Amino acid sequence: MKTLRTQVAIVGAGPAGLLLSHLLGRSGIETVTVDHRTYDEIAGTIRAGILEAGSVRLLVDSGASTRVLTEGHRHDGVVLRFDGENHRIDFQGLVGESVWLYPQTDVFIDLAARRRSDGGDVRYGVSDTAVDISGARPTVTYTEPDGSVTRLEADLLIGADGSRSICRHAFPDGGRGEWFREYPFAWFGFLAEAAPSHDELVYTRSDYGFALVSQRTPTVQRMYFQCAPDERPQEWDDDRIWTEMRRRVNGNGFEVEEGPITAKMVLPFRSFVTAPLRHDRLLLAGDAAHTVPPTGAKGLNLALADVAILAEVIADFYAAGDADVLDRYTERALERVWRAQHFSYWATTMLHMVPGATPFDIQRQRGELALITGSRHGSTYFAEAYTGWQQPKQ
Ligand code: PHB
Repeated sequence: MKTLRTQVAIVGAGPAGLLLSHLLGRSGIETVTVDHRTYDEIAGTIRAGILEAGSVRLLVDSGASTRVLTEGHRHDGVVLRFDGENHRIDFQGLVGESVWLYPQTDVFIDLAARRRSDGGDVRYGVSDTAVDISGARPTVTYTEPDGSVTRLEADLLIGADGSRSICRHAFPDGGRGEWFREYPFAWFGFLAEAAPSHDELVYTRSDYGFALVSQRTPTVQRMYFQCAPDERPQEWDDDRIWTEMRRRVNGNGFEVEEGPITAKMVLPFRSFVTAPLRHDRLLLAGDAAHTVPPTGAKGLNLALADVAILAEVIADFYAAGDADVLDRYTERALERVWRAQHFSYWATTMLHMVPGATPFDIQRQRGELALITGSRHGSTYFAEAYTGWQQPKQ
């Protein structure tokens, strides 16, 4: 077995893990990042597409991505559609901010390229990863793709290893709390070769359930509709999918553009937070620490926001030589996480049909949508949350 030493060991080479290693690299802190997935597996995973203004600034200002500005699409608003009418929430007019449509895959590709050109140590496709925090220094043991086994010793261990995190489970029994909510529905997501139906995202509430019309490129579109949690994608052919989209979205001159469907999947739908985010020299970030339902488009943004705080706290730890400063991370990160948990939950309940909803529940939901779209204050609340609670501009 080979032994390797580094300052910060990061488990998970998705956007959270790679951005952290990039930000630490800029502060002169050495990292080794490992992931059981190959580069192609991570790059080929279809994930969400919306970046908050602050996420874009973080990627651009840290030198992680310039492509987001040239190849991403700035959206100055979204549409909330109900009762057959579109109601636009004007982000720029209300809060002076925008979001960017730039898929997570591209965020990953940019970060991976930047790490490679900076000489960062990222190991994809490792297996049998195990973490141990019982000694004075945390260790990660893993098998390289060539079969050799490495024991990585670090000052700090970061779990950026997604919702099925192995790092989260290294916390001692009783060492952390968990808060979660399950929903009686999920999202059916698909990619279609079609023209865009609209120039902004359309979030639709209908009596048949929620639907979202998003985009990817001028010829590829991303869409979702509410389904049962145990729905099986293989039981849905193109006709059945388009029939469902049409009855939820089309009407009053608005029609979803159709075309061949090239990928389909059912997305897990759950709200989850664990705390604290630190035990001794192990810290959690991104989906390892919290998940949100996709309605608010917050998952990736929260992961990037965690990592921005974590990079600062880790730099403070090295400057002060004191592990107590690491405790600040939990409180700072979770403040934003709980706001986003509320927004994701709230937007979900406002737009989805809950099985068993009473006529009262349905009228109340329509009243809520009218309140949000029909009032400047209501719309501003939505716009501020969706674009991501910016600091006031200097
Ligand atoms: C997407 O384009 O994949 C997307 C956009 C907005 C969401 C969720 C997913 O709320």
